[in-house]
Amino acid sequence: METFLADATVPDGLKGVFERSNISLSLADYTSPDCPLIGVNEEFCELSGYGPDEVLGRNCRFLQPENGAGPVRDRMRAFLQDEGQTDDKFLIPNITKDGRRFLNLVYMSKLTRKGKVELILGSQFAVRGKDGQAPALYDRALAEDLRQMNVLTNENNWALLGSFEALASSHSIIAQSKIE
Ligand SMILES: Cc1cc2nc3c(=O)[nH]c(=O)nc-3n(C[C@H](O)[C@H](O)[C@H](O)COP(=O)(O)O)c2cc1C
Repeated sequence: METFLADATVPDGLKGVFERSNISLSLADYTSPDCPLIGVNEEFCELSGYGPDEVLGRNCRFLQPENGAGPVRDRMRAFLQDEGQTDDKFLIPNITKDGRRFLNLVYMSKLTRKGKVELILGSQFAVRGKDGQAPALYDRALAEDLRQMNVLTNENNWALLGSFEALASSHSIIAQSKIE
């Protein structure tokens, strides 16, 4: 299942990827004030505990603790503002609707139409205590979703920016944060 705002303009086929995916996916409108969410899939709702009606139209920072998410939030904001950045991963403390804290590994990538950024794709991975193979499986699922989205969006002047394979693996980002 996936839910999009009724008036959302999204590339053909993207909704199908959201529906079929088994990882958390989200989409925000970069051209609207405060970059609100305009689409989420079922896995996003399971991870966050919120229903689609509670999140669509809102900026995704509602998942962050009230006392601030630390400098990573500034990095996210800078990423969105900086035209030179295409995609990146961010490890940020978040809270589910029922108040459970978790570390969220958020991937963001920019979607352009006719060369202008219109949408931001987001994907979320909840870091659990003993993750084992989970981060590697997540990366593989995300890479496959991005590949499908790339094929679909390359028509009608859309382009999904980024070179996901060039980013550090989710496993190494999580391992690094445990050392620090
Ligand atoms: C598509 C999309 C998904 C996002 N997902 C999350 C998320 O799951 N958790 C989170 O803490 N922030 C997430 N963010 C980042 C926040 O919405 C926001 O951009 C960030 O807090 C920096 O901006 P601010 O300083 O104005 O809050 C997401 C942003 C976008 C565009």
